[in-house]
Parts: sequence; C-alpha cells; structure tokens
Amino acid sequence: MDSKTIRDKFIKFFVEKNHKEIAPAKLVPENDPTTLLTSSGMQQLVPYLLGEKHPAGKRLVNSQPCFRAEDIEEVGDNRHTTFFEMLGNWSLGDYFKEDQLKWFWEFLTKELGLPKEKLYISVFEGDGNIPKDEESYEVWKSLGVPENHIFFYGVEKNWWSRSGPPNNMPAGEIGGPDSEVFYEFTQIEHNKKFGDRCHPNCNCGRFSEIGNSVFIQYQKKDDGTLRELSQKSVDFGGGLERLTAATLDHPDIFQTDLYQPIIDAIVELIGKEYEENKSAMQVLADHLKAATFMIVNEVEPSNKLQGYVLRRLLRRAAIKLRHLNKEIPLNSLALLIRIIRAIYEGLFGAIKEKEVNFLEGVVKNEMDRFSKTLDHGLKEIEKIEKIDGKIAFDLYQTFGFPYEVTEELFRQKGQQVDKEQFRAEFEKHRELSRTASAGIFKGGLADQSEVVTKYHTATHLLHQALRDVLGPGVFQQGSNITAERLRFDFSYDKKMTDEEIKKVEDIINQRIKQDLKVDHLIVPLEKAKEMNAIGLFDEKYADKVSIYGVGPGYNLDEDAKDKRIRGGYYSLEFCGGPHVEHTAFIGKIKIAKEEAVSSGMRRIRAQIV
Ligand code: ALA
Repeated sequence: MDSKTIRDKFIKFFVEKNHKEIAPAKLVPENDPTTLLTSSGMQQLVPYLLGEKHPAGKRLVNSQPCFRAEDIEEVGDNRHTTFFEMLGNWSLGDYFKEDQLKWFWEFLTKELGLPKEKLYISVFEGDGNIPKDEESYEVWKSLGVPENHIFFYGVEKNWWSRSGPPNNMPAGEIGGPDSEVFYEFTQIEHNKKFGDRCHPNCNCGRFSEIGNSVFIQYQKKDDGTLRELSQKSVDFGGGLERLTAATLDHPDIFQTDLYQPIIDAIVELIGKEYEENKSAMQVLADHLKAATFMIVNEVEPSNKLQGYVLRRLLRRAAIKLRHLNKEIPLNSLALLIRIIRAIYEGLFGAIKEKEVNFLEGVVKNEMDRFSKTLDHGLKEIEKIEKIDGKIAFDLYQTFGFPYEVTEELFRQKGQQVDKEQFRAEFEKHRELSRTASAGIFKGGLADQSEVVTKYHTATHLLHQALRDVLGPGVFQQGSNITAERLRFDFSYDKKMTDEEIKKVEDIINQRIKQDLKVDHLIVPLEKAKEMNAIGLFDEKYADKVSIYGVGPGYNLDEDAKDKRIRGGYYSLEFCGGPHVEHTAFIGKIKIAKEEAVSSGMRRIRAQIV
C-alpha cells in the first residue's frame, strides 16, 4: 500500500468513529518555549489531556509531522529517522483501553490487511505502586492474539511521557503505561550481537514498532510521586513510514514511496549503488527531508536552538556526501529539495513552487560555508600524529565529523581510533545536553509559563493595534514567544515610521491600563466568522472553534483604520490560548525593534518592561 492510502484510511477510519480531524501543530511550536520542535502529536493537546475542553470535542484524529533530535545518532538503519509523520488518535476522557486496542487491531488487520501472525504486542509489566496492565493483556487475548505474541516490559519500554519513564518526568508532566504493536519481518535473521533471543524490543531490525497506545492516567506531583488523573485519556501514535513498510512486508522504510524518490536521486547524484551504501544514503535522505521541513517552518541555520539542530543536520549530511564521493560539491544536495517537495504535494501547507528557490538558497549557502570549514578540518587532521578517542570527539564537536568518518580517514592512514574513549566523551556530552534541555523544559513548565501567557495576550493586542494604525491589510504571519520577548511577523510592505511605532505601543499600553477582561469562547465556525474573529483558519478541521476576545463591550476608536466590529471586543482571534484573565496582568510593553523579514513582511520584537 502507498503512504497516501494509509494516511487517508486512518483518518477516515477514526472520523467514522466520531473523531474530528484537527490541524497538525507547526513543526516549530508557536508560543511554546518549552519545546524546540514538535516531536509527537499529543504536544499541542497537553492542556486538553489535563482536562480543558477541546473545541472539536473528545475524540480527535490527525497526521502530525514530527522531529526527534534525540534519534539523530540512530539514523542509518532500516527504520530510524529524525523526521517522521505520526498518525494519531485521541480520546480526551472518553473511550479507554478496550475500544482503543480493539480499533487499532481492526485498523491493522482489516483496513491494512496485515497478517495477524506477523503482529506482536507489548504490555506494561508494572513498577512499584503502578500496577501491571492486566486490562490491556485481557483485551489483546480477547481479540485473538496468542499468549506467545504478548510480551511484558517495564518502565523503560512500556511507559510513555514526553520525558520518558516516571523518574525523568518533571513535576506537572503527564504520562502513563502504554501498549505497542510490532511487525515481524521474518526475512531478517536475528543477529546474536543484540542478545541470544530475539523479541519485539530487540534492536536487530527483525521487529519494527508500528503503533503505540498510551494511556494517559498519571501526573507527576511536586513531591515526586504520581497522582491518578481524574480524566483518563488515550494518546495514540503510529509512524506512517513504518506502517507503510509493514504493508509492503519490506523492512526498509527508505524503500517506501516516502523515501524511494530521494534515494533514487542520491544514487544518481553520487553514482554508487544503494545496496552497498545504505547507511550513508539513509542519513542523507532523512537529514535533507528534516532540513527541508525546518526551513519551510522558517528555521535558518545558526548556532542557537532550532537553527543549531538544522545546522547539525546539514553538516552531518555534508560529511556523508564527502564520504560517499568527494568529487561532488556539497551544495548539490540542494537538488533533493524539489524531490522532497513532490512527495508531500498537497500536504502540510505544501511547499510552493516559488519557495523552492529560497529553500535551495538556504541549503546552498550553508553548504558553501561548511565546505571551507571542512577543508580546514581535513588539513588539521593531516597534522595530527595520533588520533585518540578524545581528539576524535573534538573533531566531531568542532567540525561535525562523525566518528565513522574520522575512523575511515585514519584507517587510510593506517591508524586505529579508540572507539571506547570516543563513546565515553560522547556520553559525557550527551548527559550535559540532556540536562540542558531538561532545563528548558522544566523552566517552561514551572516559572516561565506565566510570563509566556502574558506575552501571548500582548501579541493579540499588538495584532489589533497594528491594524488600527496601519490598516486592515496587516495580518499575522508568524509568532514566537520566549520568556524574554515576543516576536511577531506581519504582512506590511513599508518600514514603520517612529511615530507609527509609538502609536502602536501607546494603544497596547492603554488597553493594558484599561484592565480589559479576556474571554474564551467556543462557538460554531460560522458564528466566529460573523463576529469577524481574525486568524488563519483551515475550515476543513472543525465546526466548533476556540476564540479569545479581549475587552468585551468595546467601542470602536474613531481614528482607527481598521473599522471592523469584532463581536463587541477590542481584539477577537482564533486561538487555543492560554491567556491572562485581565490585561492589567501584562504590565507594560515596549517595542524594541521593527525590521523587514522579506518583501511584504515585517517583524516586531517587544518586551514586557
Ligand atoms: N505520544 C506517543 C508517542 O509519541 C503516542 O509514542
């Protein structure tokens, strides 16, 4: 089956079971400084999994582009990628284990026609006070899964939260036991290197996880224990790439329609066969696809946050290309963007033809810069007499040379690099970056959430104030909030004058002073349109929508250039929240900078002072 058929069947299957299709979140989450990149479908649903009412109801479904930086080192086999598409369905306090497992089984065996004898199940075996998941076990048995196809594992394998097992969960985080389904590729012989006995979670490649039903039942408390949530929810995620491979009974996701055209183009570019160069070509295909999605989402290569992730992807890809064929200029990898665009034609706000040149430009630029660094790095290597594991790690850090590249270069020089020492350095570094990202995460959930909420409401005031001053042609193009500032992109084709900037700033501060009330309304889409709520909204996704209104009973300002009445509010926008309850909570806003982003698009940075 091709990926499009599977994606469409999944959505249809759950829509027929009264689920509403919701729009996927952006790959770079807006207004969420706790996370760099969207890594699962549930991320945008956390408030609703905690009990808030979702405007589309209690049953949701979608397909979510995801990126997992922590898997970057795993790429280079038949099933791991950093970028993937997650098919997801959710019950927000509605159905639970029995319906979820029954429906997913029906989807796999009836809709996709996967043979039952190739499917294996894992279930949570319990841990301390958290009981063994007997209920899921009984459901699987009642569906006809033989006992020798059901395996129990502990928290490392059958517990899911955004931060892993219970011990790693920060206070406030939600999670629970899960039950996974694996597909067995019998054509792959078990490799004893991975253990005497093969089993669903064995890493030899014979088994591939194709779906994970998480039962969100717990929340971590401040004292480190888990409390049961009163609302019990289901969070399901299944990788489309792996499901496609399972329907083909082909263990290599890079030979499905989601990757094959990229691999073909790489083979042609490099002039070598895939069979002999699988791992390097898999890395190239994955990294270029992930990079393309990031650049479309306005990430640029840099040394910070998302920009650094993008830079790392492109550099790793460059090294692989050099390794495969050093005659080919690094910037020729930009050729792959057109191919990637064609695979996702019509999806995820499809990449427009006119954007391709821009995307290619970003990749070419970065590659041209790196090409010089790389040559420099190679010269440095020439000077070093003996490469130990620590130097290999420095080369990795400084020039982005993966271990295997350094190893290959010295094998040519007749040297052996100490892999164990490299690994030890690597682990030390990984531990450090884990702690750093846990810091971002924790800070976001705890003390920063309040300031982010203030900035979020300030963004709505800014949007309307810009329209008041510059006219109704102004429209939000992007928004990004951290604990330190807001950044807002909008359509406008001229530089704002100092006077205009001051006027906008004054209006916002006046609205704050007036201490306007902020209302959250859930109304039919038609009603929201009638009230002139602003916002980009894809009508395909909902009949009921969530909008936020600032300042009920508001009388239009006579001087305002935007004369539209917004259901009696000063500002009214499609939005999922959260917001402050009264504008006076925001404090005072100062516009720090106004600049061009591209032709017809301006950017404002503002701070609470
Ligand atoms: N949120 C779950 C996962 O990412 C479904 O595996």
